[in-house]
Amino acid sequence: MSLVEVERDGAVAVVLLNRPAALNALSDELMDELVTRFGELDRDPEVRCIVLGGSERAFAAGADIGELRQASAIDLYYQRRVERWDAIRSLWTPLVAAVSGYCLGGGCELAMSCDLIVASETAEFGQPETGLGIIPGAGGTQRLTRAVGKAVAMDVILSGRRLSAREALAAGLVARVVAKEAWLEEAKRVARDIAEKGPVATRLAKESVNRAYETTLSAGLEAERRALYLAFASEDAKPGVQGELVELRRHELEHQLTPFAEDSNRDAGADPLADHQALDVEHAGNRRSVELDDQILGAEAGLRGRRALDDLDDLDPCLAAETASQARRQGTRATGDPEVGAAEAAVRHQRADNLAGGRVDRHRQSEADSSDGSVDPDHVAVPVSKRAA
Ligand code: HXC
Repeated sequence: MSLVEVERDGAVAVVLLNRPAALNALSDELMDELVTRFGELDRDPEVRCIVLGGSERAFAAGADIGELRQASAIDLYYQRRVERWDAIRSLWTPLVAAVSGYCLGGGCELAMSCDLIVASETAEFGQPETGLGIIPGAGGTQRLTRAVGKAVAMDVILSGRRLSAREALAAGLVARVVAKEAWLEEAKRVARDIAEKGPVATRLAKESVNRAYETTLSAGLEAERRALYLAFASEDAKPGVQGELVELRRHELEHQLTPFAEDSNRDAGADPLADHQALDVEHAGNRRSVELDDQILGAEAGLRGRRALDDLDDLDPCLAAETASQARRQGTRATGDPEVGAAEAAVRHQRADNLAGGRVDRHRQSEADSSDGSVDPDHVAVPVSKRAA
C-alpha cells in the first residue's frame, strides 16, 4: 500500500497522505515518497495546482516519534532529513493544504510550507515539540511566527496550546474554514480556481508573495515589478489584458503609423517604398513592438497603463526624455490626455527603432539632453542607421 496516494482531476492533482494507523505521522519513508511525487507533479506541465491532504481525522500528527527516538542527532544531520523539506518549499506549482483534524508538529510545518491552507472546522493546529524536549525544526518557529505574530506563536510553541480552525483563521494561519464534510472538496475547488488562471502569472505571483517574507520591501517591490513585465510578455496576458478597446486602438494606431514612416524617410532621405515594406514586415513579425503597443495602449484603459508608463520612464531615462519631447511636438492627439500622447510617441519611436533594425542612439541623446539641460526636439530617437545615411 502506498503511503502517498495521487489522484488527478483535470489540471488539479490531489495528493493524500495515507498512513491512517499512525495519524499520517511523517515517517522517513512517507516523506521520501511525498517529495518524489511532488517532484513528478511539479514537472508535469498539465498540473496547474496541487492539493495536499490527509484524512478526516488527521492531516498529520507530526514527525514519526518512534523514528525520532531511534535516530541520533548525527543520523538526522547526515541523512539530511529536514533539508529534504526544502524541496516542498521550492515547488513551482501552487500547493493548497487541505487540513482536517490533527495538524501537529511536523504536520503543521508541512501545512505551512504549502501556499495556502483550507481547514475543516475540526482542524487543530499545534507545535507540541517542546513537550518532547525538542523544538519545531522544519520551519515551525519561523513560519508560524510570520503567519500569526510573535504573541500567538510563542503561546503555541512554548505552552503547547493548540489553535482551533477559527483561531487559526483569525490569526492569519488559515485562508478558509469550511464545514467538516467539505474540507477536501473546498480545497479542490480553490485549486480549480487557481488552475484556471494563467500558469506563468500564477507562478510569478506565488514567487512574488513568497519574496515578501524573505526580503526588504524595496527589494520585494523591485522583484514584483520585474515579475509584472515577465507576466506581460506571457501568452497568458494576451486575452486577459487586451480587451476589445485595446484591439480597436491597435487598429487605429497602425493607420497612424504610415505618415510617421514617411516622416522618418523624409528626415533620412531613404526610400519610402522600401520602408513601407519594412513596416509591413515589422507588423507581421515584430512581437516586441506589438507588446510595447499593448502596454502603452493600456494607458487609456486606466491604472494599469499608467503604471506601465511610469515603469517605462523608470526603466530608461532617455526614453522618458524622448517621450516627453515627442508629446510636446505632437500634442496630446486623439485622447487629449498628455500621458497617452506621450505613450503613443514612445510607440512611434520604438517602431522607428525596429524599422531601421538598429538601436536608438541613446548615448548621443544623453549628450544632447545634457548640453543645455533640455531636450532638443529635433534630436530625438532617430535610428542610428538613418543618421548615418
Ligand atoms: C508516530 C503517532 C504519532 C506520531 C500518533 N501516532 N501520532 N505515531 N508518530 N507523531 C500514532 C499513535 O501512536 C497511535 O498508534 C495512533 O497514531 C493513534 O494515536 P492515539 O494517540 O491513540 O490517538 P488520539 O488519542 O486520538 O491522540 C491523537 C494525538 C496524539 C493527540 C495526535 O496521537 C499525539 O499527541 N500524537 C503526537 C503528536 C506530536 O507530539 N507530534 C509532534 C512530533 S515531533 P497505535 O499503534 O498506538 O494505535 C515533530 C518534530 C518535527 O513533529 C521536526 C521536523 C522534522
